[in-house]
Amino acid sequence: MKYVRIAPSILSADFSNLKDQVKKLEEAKVDLIHIDVMDGNFVSEITFGPLIVDTLKRITKIPLDAHLMIKNPESQIDKFVEVGSNMISFHLEACNNLIETIKQIKDKNVKAGIAINPDTLVEKLNNVLDELDFVLIMSVFPGGSGQSFIKDVESKIGLVKSTIEQRGLNLEIEVDGGINKENIKNVAELGADMVVAGNAVFGNVAAGKPNDIIKSVRELREALV
Ligand code: DX5
Ligand code: ZN
Repeated sequence: MKYVRIAPSILSADFSNLKDQVKKLEEAKVDLIHIDVMDGNFVSEITFGPLIVDTLKRITKIPLDAHLMIKNPESQIDKFVEVGSNMISFHLEACNNLIETIKQIKDKNVKAGIAINPDTLVEKLNNVLDELDFVLIMSVFPGGSGQSFIKDVESKIGLVKSTIEQRGLNLEIEVDGGINKENIKNVAELGADMVVAGNAVFGNVAAGKPNDIIKSVRELREALV
């Protein structure tokens, strides 16, 4: 089985102990940190902005993966670039000029991705696939962590994977939402190169049920073997 990168979503971390949580992610040797940016408009919740990317950049060398769940992402992308995002994805459903926005990211030497909701047809990506560094396939509806993986999305992962192979494209697949040690292997076999995990890594901190981060990441890796 190929190596699959694990991207814990910092949204589920214990923010009263952010530095310590990041240290644990380093010890666990995670590949990326996923940052869920929500604007209270494209999705109903509000989370955080470039400040959190800037903060993480100061305390870790783990590459930072900013997932922008915001309307008109083109107006905010430069700020996420400036603070050191290594990857930036924005939603197809929230953007009117996909090609220009991809270019805006790639021109700054940052990896560019488009995220698609569970009910968005992958065919809508056909014209832009060869411009992208990655596609972020949402396996829950954006808006919060701790939701269940939507099984219907499996066929979509397979479809994107076969399109990439047929067209000989050089882009990666990231899958985001409801990933756990029970389903991670299947998601990887369907074609994911990167998987996001919030609850599965951090547990439910708000409910007073945090996970042992190192053990949780190890279990995800073991499930991939
Ligand atoms: C959903 C976010 C996801 C989510 C992942 O809006 O994009 O990244 O926080 O959390 P889990 O793994 O708990 O579904
Ligand atoms: Zn996300």
